[in-house]
Amino acid sequence: MSSCVGTNAGATSPAPRPRLCGMSTLDFDHPPREPVAMAKAWLEHATASTGLPNPNAMTLATVDADGGPSARIVLLRGLDENGALFFTNYRSRKGRALGAHPRAALVLHWDVLERQIRIEGSVSRATAEESDGYWASRHRDSQIGAWASQQSEALESREALVQANADFAQRFEGQPVPRPEHWGGFRVALENVEFWEGKPARVHDRIVYTVDGGDWKIQRLSP
Ligand SMILES: Cc1cc2nc3c(=O)[nH]c(=O)nc-3n(C[C@H](O)[C@H](O)[C@H](O)COP(=O)(O)O)c2cc1C
Repeated sequence: MSSCVGTNAGATSPAPRPRLCGMSTLDFDHPPREPVAMAKAWLEHATASTGLPNPNAMTLATVDADGGPSARIVLLRGLDENGALFFTNYRSRKGRALGAHPRAALVLHWDVLERQIRIEGSVSRATAEESDGYWASRHRDSQIGAWASQQSEALESREALVQANADFAQRFEGQPVPRPEHWGGFRVALENVEFWEGKPARVHDRIVYTVDGGDWKIQRLSP
């Protein structure tokens, strides 16, 4: 079993860091048969324990039509056996890249917990109902902002964006802000899910789940 006592296993900072304890321990010698419950447990633990403003922040890596890679942070908004869900502008750089190459890699990293989760798989759009559901939960300012921002496009000035926000606020005054058709969810299928945990003397633990037919192949990897 993994210990809750920290030993600065990553050795990336000079002072020992406490390992925060919880119900999310992964027994790398006896891993569960599937990765979703443990990934959710690590996420919940990070949310409850770290005090991070965005414990659900993750790097999203894509490849564009010319084979060029790019990466950026997005927020994980759903995780289940169907995949990892995030929301964005479909016309953005990432949206266009995913249109050309509908595959992506995700990385969640909690430094203070010495934990990382990597997810790779094919990408599909969320249903309109799912995107509507999440859209409805967003603050009105964020909804207006989604209309005002032509995400990833060059902007003349900050004032131009502020003005666009004001224009859309006026356009939708006194009524609900509808979801733009070009804004919604993407779901990354769980084809590869890897758990990494820092351990003393850099003898870190890694375990990877790979879809194999209808089942999961489970392998321990060298760190
Ligand atoms: C903490 C954090 C959370 C973010 N969450 C999102 C998100 O959920 N969706 C999104 O489209 N952009 C999000 N962004 C902005 C993206 O990192 C990125 O700047 C934007 O999506 C444009 O990326 P692109 O030009 O590669 O498409 C977030 C940025 C940060 C720093």
